[in-house]
Amino acid sequence: MSAAVPSTGLGHQLKIATATMHRRVERTAFMAGLLRGQVDRRRYAGLLHNLQALYAALEDALTRHAATPGVAPVVMPELFRGRALVADLQALAGDSSWTHAPLARATRQYVERLQELSAAKPSLLVAHAYVRYLGDLNGGQALRRVVARSLGLAGSTGTLFYDFGDSATQQRLVQRFRAGLETVAAQLKDTHALTDEALSAFERHEQLFEELAAA
Ligand code: HEM
Repeated sequence: MSAAVPSTGLGHQLKIATATMHRRVERTAFMAGLLRGQVDRRRYAGLLHNLQALYAALEDALTRHAATPGVAPVVMPELFRGRALVADLQALAGDSSWTHAPLARATRQYVERLQELSAAKPSLLVAHAYVRYLGDLNGGQALRRVVARSLGLAGSTGTLFYDFGDSATQQRLVQRFRAGLETVAAQLKDTHALTDEALSAFERHEQLFEELAAA
């Protein structure tokens, strides 16, 4: 699904600033392979395991800052993916053995960064919410069909991660998130730190995908 993006404002700035990095991440061997349906359960569960750790840290931090000015407008628990990721992992692995698998180095560093921001610079968490949730609500929807087909998954089994409700609901969530970004922007003097943090979030994903491709 793709929603119209306003041509001004923080949402627009983030999109423009990260467009090149988005293309790079999309073209990593891991993501390109996933899109072509070249993934097996073990590799896909490996991705979800790392995302689960990332989202646990992100959503802990966002929950902690649900009333913090400059963060609160983008804290939308209906977007949270933590529970869906655990359910998908259980469905794919059939048990909870995945919880013992080691995390990629990029994920451990990503989690540390999120914890650092939560403690010292919560306003930059907005960049990470942007990169993950708008990504899931956009390109994630194309991935859902490919993943279900290549892993032979029926219904929402194993693909709850991509499930935000019907397309009208998704559209509403995108609009609310974008409106939240603009409320945040109205409280900021300078948005550069946010666009830099969003770029570094994409770089962290690129590193993660490189590690997962080599695993
Ligand atoms: C094969 C993988 C991917 C595909 C096919 C894909 C595709 C897309 C598409 C079609 C859009 C909508 C663009 C538009 O409305 O102009 C989009 C937006 C987005 N994607 Fe991806 N994407 C992929 C991976 C990722 C990843 C891994 C991330 C995060 C690390 C990500 C983050 C985003 C973000 C933040 C947006 C919103 C951009 C904006 O409108 O501000 N994407 N993606």
